[in-house]
Amino acid sequence: MWGGRFSAKPAEIMQAINVSIGVDQRLWAQDLAGSRAHCRMLAAKGIIEQADADAILGGLDTIEGEIRSGAFPFRDQFEDIHMNVEARLNELIGEPSGRLHTARSRNDQVTTDFRLWVRDACDRQIVQLQGLQRALLARAEQHAGDLMPGFTHLQTAQPVTLGHHLMAYVEMFGRDAGRFADARARMNENPLGAAALAGSPFPIDRHMTAKELGFDRPMGNSLDAVSDRDFALESLAASSICAGHLSRLAEEIVVWMTPMFGFVTLPDDLTTGSSIMPQKRNPDAAELVRAKTGRIMGSFVALSTVMKGLPLAYSKDMQEDKPPVFEAFDALDLALGAMTAMVAALQPNTQRMAAAAGAGFSTATDLADWLVRELNLPFRKAHHVTGAAVKKAEALGVDLSQLPLAELQALDARVTEAVYKVLTPEASCASRQSFGGTAPDQVRARIADWKTRLA
Ligand code: ARG
Repeated sequence: MWGGRFSAKPAEIMQAINVSIGVDQRLWAQDLAGSRAHCRMLAAKGIIEQADADAILGGLDTIEGEIRSGAFPFRDQFEDIHMNVEARLNELIGEPSGRLHTARSRNDQVTTDFRLWVRDACDRQIVQLQGLQRALLARAEQHAGDLMPGFTHLQTAQPVTLGHHLMAYVEMFGRDAGRFADARARMNENPLGAAALAGSPFPIDRHMTAKELGFDRPMGNSLDAVSDRDFALESLAASSICAGHLSRLAEEIVVWMTPMFGFVTLPDDLTTGSSIMPQKRNPDAAELVRAKTGRIMGSFVALSTVMKGLPLAYSKDMQEDKPPVFEAFDALDLALGAMTAMVAALQPNTQRMAAAAGAGFSTATDLADWLVRELNLPFRKAHHVTGAAVKKAEALGVDLSQLPLAELQALDARVTEAVYKVLTPEASCASRQSFGGTAPDQVRARIADWKTRLA
């Protein structure tokens, strides 16, 4: 393709380090779309003859058919997807194929293809995230009133509902979808027509190709167009944050599934057994969702590192942009799919969760709040009195709600029987009516909000 000024073929090692077709053949559909748009624009602007354009478009259709049927010869000798397509086009239609690359370089071609691919990937994540949110919403609605312990430091803190806990993830995944949408909107500009780096002397119409490829406008600087990969990085940043959320939920499923917690089980088809220990039921899918985070976050680091010291404009380093992005999105596709399946299939042991919600002095804050409300104690003082009550209950081996009134009155003589009403986990949850709080009607209201947002 560029042999004119060369008299020797590339060394085997040159070929080995240079070849990228094994990776970038995944861009074939985007490459054909970009070539079609470019070809039509060249003909519309009179830069190439309509007859040549027709031959090119016909050849591209044949190539698409070959790729879809598996008959297309992807060849290492042609380095990447762009040259493989062009070489095949030449075999199919002969000389007119050579006119397609007028006013174009692989530099603007590859970044156009890649932008289109990443744009689709972002759209796909948004759809998948919404699917996961819907699965969470359905489960949250089922369990809007079911108690579980809320934790800080993984120590029992205050009772919450399972619905409230699941809705926390609906919020997170909503922001994740928003990040993909933001990244998509920012990346949706057309680099095609930047050519090698400086633009083109031909009367090309970059608005026309932008429109055909669904971009909002042409990019405003040809150097920037061929040399930045921030769109890919931004999608990896969004992926990394999303993977972090998935990993936290995965971790909770793993913990909740241990017999010591016994909060949830997963059905046979989403767990695995052990080859030696017959009793085992392992949450492998959750563990792998948690582990995929490593690849995804690693991809962001890999691509940032590739990009960080490159002078403008294109450098071949940028060919290394694709493996991390493909790897990250493959991992995220799987992680989102697996998490959605697990959320839909989780079988909570609501009795065990409710029992745990009431254990561990989880309503101690409610006692302190009662002392503030009813006896007008300063909160710090109430905190101290409650701490003493917990200490006493612990010594007697009872829960706060079972602590005799006389013991409470020994701490403050004004305590009455009424205090016991706030010491149950049900009352604790129901009392947290602040917006976004864990009271079941609050949780149901937020579920309703999200249903509207996702409708
Ligand atoms: N395969 C190359 C890549 O992915 C295409 C661009 C090649 N451009 C060049 N000037 N060698 O980056």
